[in-house]
Amino acid sequence: MKSQILKALREANSYVSGQELCEQFQVSRTAVWKAVHQLNEEGYIIEAVRNKGYRIVESPDVLSVKEIESLISTKWAGSEIQYYDETDSTNTRAKTWAENGAIHGALVVADMQSAGKGRRGRSWESPKGTNIYLSIILRPQMQPMQAPMLTLVMAHSIAKTLRDVPEINVKIKWPNDIVLHKKKVCGILTEMSAEIDYINYVVIGVGINVNGDQVPEELEKSATTLSIEEKKKFKRSELIAAILKQFETDYELFCETKDLSEFQKTYNQILVNQDREVRVLEPGNEYNGYALGINETGELLVRREDGRIEKVFAGEVSVRGIYGYV
Ligand code: BTN
Repeated sequence: MKSQILKALREANSYVSGQELCEQFQVSRTAVWKAVHQLNEEGYIIEAVRNKGYRIVESPDVLSVKEIESLISTKWAGSEIQYYDETDSTNTRAKTWAENGAIHGALVVADMQSAGKGRRGRSWESPKGTNIYLSIILRPQMQPMQAPMLTLVMAHSIAKTLRDVPEINVKIKWPNDIVLHKKKVCGILTEMSAEIDYINYVVIGVGINVNGDQVPEELEKSATTLSIEEKKKFKRSELIAAILKQFETDYELFCETKDLSEFQKTYNQILVNQDREVRVLEPGNEYNGYALGINETGELLVRREDGRIEKVFAGEVSVRGIYGYV
């Protein structure tokens, strides 16, 4: 009931009379008043004005199922949510849930991870109370070899959301890091369970450094948080709801063609490597080249010094700026 009232107040974005809320949810005026009182105790500021009703003035940076549900307006992305104050890794939780039958779009969110996983077996710094750690479960009807493109779709969705809503000038570092002022603010780890020609499920895990005032010293040169760069705090649940909305749209568009043709242009416009010299670190094969952007299957086209154009596949390769991370 509380989350329904919260959603109704948010959607109205002005006063809603107590009477309307009673009728809408078939409860007494006292029950509405109690729910509003509890929300205020939790840190929301909901004002009550005689003859006008209730209006939401301020919401805290709360991360919970109730909060996310009250903000979400998707068909399937996040239609079921598991939330943990603390867990090992949302990707691990999501995989277990998927093995036990979770539906397409099911979402795991945590406030803290004790064993956050990064790409290539690295760990992911996951302190409590400041960042976004989420994993979405997908059951796509496509060939396993097409699944890596979903990571680029998610990178596109996150970058577009951050650029559109809070107007943060993030860029994408191929294939799927989100960077701000040349430092990483978001990483994506996609895991899959598949047979040779059949995907059982895909888990896309997203970690965004949001409200932290600092990053560990060893990461200072290459990582940052939205808050350090933008000098303000963000509501994590609002960001999550906006990202899910954008991802749902992007995913459906992707499924129409099963390639990135619809995203290539915008992706390349915000690609930090675009038209820059890069160093391609392929096991046993390292070279410098000039990044020309991605093609419709997400490979990075790199022009080598002798003019040959290589298609770099995300898998084992890492691409750096010639002077450092970007
Ligand atoms: C990277 O190395 O860039 C990928 C980092 C992915 C981190 C996220 S946080 C939520 C999800 N759970 C994990 O354990 N990892 C991903």
